[in-house]
Amino acid sequence: MTPSTTRPGERLSTGPEATQRLAAALAGIAEAGDVLCLWGELGAGKTQFAKGFGRGLGVTTTINSPTFVLMTEHVGRLPLFHLDLYRLADAADAWAGGLLDERQGEGIVLIEWPDRLGEALPLPRLDVVIEATGEEERRIRIEAAGAGLDRYLEAAATADLAGTVARP
Ligand SMILES: Nc1ncnc2c1ncn2[C@@H]1O[C@H](COP(=O)(O)OP(=O)(O)OP(=O)(O)O)[C@@H](O)[C@H]1O
Ligand SMILES: [Mg+2]
Repeated sequence: MTPSTTRPGERLSTGPEATQRLAAALAGIAEAGDVLCLWGELGAGKTQFAKGFGRGLGVTTTINSPTFVLMTEHVGRLPLFHLDLYRLADAADAWAGGLLDERQGEGIVLIEWPDRLGEALPLPRLDVVIEATGEEERRIRIEAAGAGLDRYLEAAATADLAGTVARP
């Protein structure tokens, strides 16, 4: 098993609650037009992150990953567009299906399975890479790709992950 050490830009989460708390802290500094790509294997915790992020934005509707819906929109301090591209064949489909559109500039976009976009990966974007390092432990790496998103690194470094968050 990978040793549980962290490097700059990384946090260790000890359970779903901690992952949600980290995400909620990041939502606190989110600005219209921000795009976050959530990377990680099946069951890594991308949707848990999305749930916490939604809570941080004041979203009250349930955030999950419905089987055949590629994008869900939630109302919060800013509109939240939650995309799960697992079933997407390729990037051309994303554009054709209207999954990526100008309206998203007014809100926050969270993308699960961003690798499906291939060359069409948005820029700038914040990459959130979630890796399982134990049953309930996750190493979460935050990286800003492109300009203007470095403030997320600071927020991630100072986020308080202890305690519990009520799940929706
Ligand atoms: N530290 C942790 N952070 C997040 N989830 C955790 C953690 N520890 C355990 N889990 C569990 O791992 C699972 C993560 O599921 P989740 O749906 O968020 O994964 P996902 O990355 O969205 O997967 P998928 O690719 O299927 O969409 C949940 O059952 C959650 O309770
Ligand atoms: Mg998911």
